[in-house]
Amino acid sequence: MSVLSEPAPPPLPPPDRLYQRIDQCAGAPYPLSEYIRRALWELVQATLIRWSPRRAHGWRRFWLRAFGAKLQDTSTTKSTTKIRHPWLLEVGEWSTIAEDVDVYNLGWIRIGNHTTISQRCWLCAGTHDYTRFELPLIRPSIVVGDGVWVCAGAFLGPGVTVGHNAIVGARAVVTKDVAESTIVAGNPAKVVKTRPWPGDAGKTPSAAPQAAERTH
Ligand SMILES: CC(C)(COP(=O)(O)OP(=O)(O)OC[C@H]1O[C@@H](n2cnc3c(N)ncnc32)[C@H](O)[C@@H]1OP(=O)(O)O)[C@@H](O)C(=O)NCCC(=O)NCCS
Repeated sequence: MSVLSEPAPPPLPPPDRLYQRIDQCAGAPYPLSEYIRRALWELVQATLIRWSPRRAHGWRRFWLRAFGAKLQDTSTTKSTTKIRHPWLLEVGEWSTIAEDVDVYNLGWIRIGNHTTISQRCWLCAGTHDYTRFELPLIRPSIVVGDGVWVCAGAFLGPGVTVGHNAIVGARAVVTKDVAESTIVAGNPAKVVKTRPWPGDAGKTPSAAPQAAERTH
């Protein structure tokens, strides 16, 4: 029997009380100028950036800077990196935001030097105060330190700080600060080990750091 011929399931009985009233939420929490700037940026991102060649780092930096991003000359983003508000983004030297990362920067996102944000991560600097009926928007910053690797598909929640030299494992869900030089993984993310200094743990660095091959 096709599911289309089955009746819809019955509704839940109404709740005793409602904790949130979507009809009372602010429909447009930003000034008009912000919506105009956002629309222009989304147009640029969907065309001039989305169609840009893989190695056109300078071209993407140009447009991001034109919309207020603070980027060092050696930092890179990809054509499919999705950035909500360039004017609330700061990226240090030699840092990369990879393919399909969702930089949901309703609040500030600051990324340090020599840091990699791998594919499909979600940096979520926005939430709502769920203790109020009208769910006001809150925009807590995210700060990622120097020498950090946020592995593929990880989620960094609002207000999180990731300390220098930390690693966030693939698909980790981070809702609390990550201490320097630790490796965290899982949901919720927990410390699984301390990051070894290159050469420790029986490994020998194959080249001096400044001679290492760039992989992005
Ligand atoms: C975080 C990471 C770098 C750690 O690698 P590692 O040092 O070899 O880790 P280990 O295999 O020694 O794991 C240590 C423990 O953490 C757990 N763990 C490691 N990564 C995990 C992850 N992403 N999620 C959940 N648990 C994880 C392991 O199961 C192990 O648990 P156990 O001690 O109970 O057995 C690696 O697991 C990872 O996530 N790599 C991401 C690769 C990636 O994103 N690639 C794309 C971009 S280039």
